[in-house]
Amino acid sequence: MTVEHQHELDGLRAIGRIVANTMQAMASAMEPGMTTRELDGIGRDLLAREGAVPAPEATYRFPGATCISVNEEIAHGIPGDRQIAPGDLVNIDVSASKDGFYADTGASFRFGAVPPDLDRLCRDGRRAMQIGIARVGTGRPLAGIGNAIGRFARARGYTLIRNLASHGVGRSLHEWPENIATWPTRDDRRRIHRGLVLTVEPFLSTGGHRAKEGQDGWTLYSAPRAPVVQYEHTVVATDRGAIVVTLPG
Ligand code: CO
Ligand code: CO
Repeated sequence: MTVEHQHELDGLRAIGRIVANTMQAMASAMEPGMTTRELDGIGRDLLAREGAVPAPEATYRFPGATCISVNEEIAHGIPGDRQIAPGDLVNIDVSASKDGFYADTGASFRFGAVPPDLDRLCRDGRRAMQIGIARVGTGRPLAGIGNAIGRFARARGYTLIRNLASHGVGRSLHEWPENIATWPTRDDRRRIHRGLVLTVEPFLSTGGHRAKEGQDGWTLYSAPRAPVVQYEHTVVATDRGAIVVTLPG
């Protein structure tokens, strides 16, 4: 969507705060032995309490209120019987709507102590997202996001998952412009216009290049197999850069 009025920005900020708070509360609630279904239930209750509707379920009939992807799962993990254990890398992605506005956020969390290389990957995954967000602004090329992230990833020796793109959002979960690359591209001539609402969600890895769908028809895995992290914000383009709407508070 394109934000043209203050009430639209307010609506996005309201649902943005709800999904951000939900994601953070879920991360804080993780305990050894907790199943991802229980964790999803916590998220579902928090969204319901705020009057928000889980977007993956409502839009795609995804079997869960949130996506929870553990270790080798990199995205769209289905909440279920899997138990969270110390040392796990847990990605929580929360998207929901309220009053006709949609916001989408995600992050990879280290549960307990993880090897130093995973710590570094998580820190740099968040940086990669911030580097992409810094390229958002009125009149700037959409491809600038992925080109900047690509330079950072390359300099630090990482790979990027190249078939999981960022997207327009706001009046629905996925909308125009689709397929916003978070990796280097040459052929995308689109520009960001004032008020455009989009996600920035690079998938940074220590070897993965593509996401591959698993047997359940939802869960995505890295090919080749390698650790992957994802950090995602919903942002609004302005003349002065990006406004991040998925902030806790
Ligand atoms: Co998301
Ligand atoms: Co998204």
